[in-house]
Amino acid sequence: MHYTDKVILITGASSGIGHELALLLAKEKARLILAARNQAALEAVRNQCLSYTPWCEIVLMDVTDEAQVQEGARRALQFFGKIDVLVNNAGVTQRSKLIDTSVAAVRQLMEVNFFGAVMLTQALLPHFRAQGGGQIIIISSMAGLMGYPWRSGYNAAKHALQGYFETLQTENPIPKLYTTIICPGRVRTPITYSAITANGEAYGKMDPKQVKGLSVALCAQRILKAMHKRKKMVLIAREERILLWFKRYFPPLFYMIARKGN
Ligand SMILES: NC(=O)c1ccc[n+]([C@@H]2O[C@H](COP(=O)([O-])OP(=O)(O)OC[C@H]3O[C@@H](n4cnc5c(N)ncnc54)[C@H](OP(=O)(O)O)[C@@H]3O)[C@@H](O)[C@H]2O)c1
Repeated sequence: MHYTDKVILITGASSGIGHELALLLAKEKARLILAARNQAALEAVRNQCLSYTPWCEIVLMDVTDEAQVQEGARRALQFFGKIDVLVNNAGVTQRSKLIDTSVAAVRQLMEVNFFGAVMLTQALLPHFRAQGGGQIIIISSMAGLMGYPWRSGYNAAKHALQGYFETLQTENPIPKLYTTIICPGRVRTPITYSAITANGEAYGKMDPKQVKGLSVALCAQRILKAMHKRKKMVLIAREERILLWFKRYFPPLFYMIARKGN
């Protein structure tokens, strides 16, 4: 299979999309390195992966802490002597109106969703250059393509992610380094529990609209397919895709519908 024996580092692998993608890659017998902060959750995912692949390591890493990211990258490289694929998936969403949201909360959203991916990628680019290539997967969002209520800092961070990694795609500094940007719409994961609110505290509950999102298994399958095909950008969405179409071709309707969202 495509990723058999390939060394794949996945951030945010303790839950949701990262967890599901790790399982799919384990079934392809990849050599996995799972990263996140929650050790118990990571170990549970590792145990599941080990029933499909003999190789699965974990790295504890808070992607907002530069020292931890540097050390995590160093340790990740030591496990199998290389990294073929980096999946920048760790993220946190937001549930608060822009007008109520502190600058500190916006900064925190930028730290996790944007600077986390930037720091880890920068730490590994010299390795990809020395190795002559590799693959970077960015789990962005449909929120990286349009504004939407109650997610000001999250939207900003995902737009920043798009801009940064599209630039990597256009500069193409390492010819055999393939970068894929994934833009999911709502996916049924526990993401809203940890969502940042106006004062920076966690939302602590499941957003009812999140429950109606795409299944996480389907989302992970679509991500894996995009990885196999080395796509530049893939949208994995239903209603959000229509909303984006309105934004491009009929903006008044976009603003009318989006304004009612949360
Ligand atoms: N679910 C959706 O509707 C949706 C839609 C579009 C895009 N996305 C994107 O998909 C990605 C995964 O989201 P998900 O839905 O799977 O959410 P999730 O179930 O809440 O998982 C988020 C993951 O990110 C990790 N994480 C959060 N903060 C971190 C930090 N500071 N350092 C290191 N790891 C951190 C968490 O691990 P620890 O808590 O253990 O650190 C967890 O493994 C995110 O980038 C999200 O923006 C999700």
